[in-house]
Amino acid sequence: MRDANGNFSLLHRTCSLVVLLCFLHISVTLIYYVRNSDSRPTFLQNQQTPQIHRKLNEQKVSTEETSPPSVSNGTETERKMETCPDNPPKLVGPLRVEFSDPVTLDLVREQNPALQPGGRFKPEDCIAQQKVAMIIPFRSRDEHLKFWLYYMHPILQRQQLDYGVYVIIQDGDETFNRAKLLNIGYAEALKEYDYQCFVFSDVDLIPMDDRNIYKCFNQPRHLSVSMDKFGFRLPYTQYFGGVSSLSKEQFLKINGFPNKYWGWGGEDDDIFNRISAKGMSISRPDALIGRCRMIRHDRDKQNDPNPQRFDRIAHTRHTMSKDGINSLSYKVVNVEKDQLFTKITVNVGKP
Ligand code: BGC
Repeated sequence: MRDANGNFSLLHRTCSLVVLLCFLHISVTLIYYVRNSDSRPTFLQNQQTPQIHRKLNEQKVSTEETSPPSVSNGTETERKMETCPDNPPKLVGPLRVEFSDPVTLDLVREQNPALQPGGRFKPEDCIAQQKVAMIIPFRSRDEHLKFWLYYMHPILQRQQLDYGVYVIIQDGDETFNRAKLLNIGYAEALKEYDYQCFVFSDVDLIPMDDRNIYKCFNQPRHLSVSMDKFGFRLPYTQYFGGVSSLSKEQFLKINGFPNKYWGWGGEDDDIFNRISAKGMSISRPDALIGRCRMIRHDRDKQNDPNPQRFDRIAHTRHTMSKDGINSLSYKVVNVEKDQLFTKITVNVGKP
């Protein structure tokens, strides 16, 4: 009897253990099942994935088809890009500038593959601080223009500017009018792009240091402060000739440049007078950084010294509100886009 009771109790314990183990097993299975319930949709997702991917790809393709990639990429990239630094990292400082070996436009084109038609450029890896239009008044100086483009494009690219080059050609054989061509360059460049800064450069002047940045400052800037022609110094304190830069605001404040200086001389002095009449001063790089070379040449035909210049300079304060960008009139004869520059031929009238 005792044995039978003992056996029963052993069997009872064994059964309880088995039941417990079964219970445990079911619980663990249940917990595992509940915890991994996410994996069921994963599996479904995996089945659906090709379809979802196809849909996303279809959307992508149709977006690319409807809007230019450069716009969507540009905005995306620009959102991530930072403004270019004050001291562009690729500047090299002093440069060797010489004009003994002629250069060809093809060579310059080859050396500047990043240029867009019209001599346009913007840095790839940062947002340029300024949009700058380079304005060159021009007539029959093709050899000089080649040197200008040859030296300037690499410099301007290292300076990380968003820039375009505008060569404003005076049509015909009338007396040359430099300042009027500069006004025209300002007006024509603005028709094309939202420029904030204008560099006005003679075609025969090349900076000898790329730290002389061709951009605008909080005062009108004189950039060619130390020319070889003048023994690397200013010929006089008020000198504002050669290369200068003005922001759109500064330019409009002085009503642009005079239109009535025909022939050589005086128009840069008039511009200086306008700037000081409006209470602005001249900003300049130091004499070392501002060194530049001029290509030697004979005096141009139809650009003799203007005998009226002394009289005109004496009256800038009275004439500047009537003669300037507000009274500019001209006719565009032709516009051509080269990879290296925009060439605008204009009829400026006569004296
Ligand atoms: C003229 C300027 C010229 C300067 C330097 C002055 O007499 O008026 O137009 O830039 O000489 O040559």
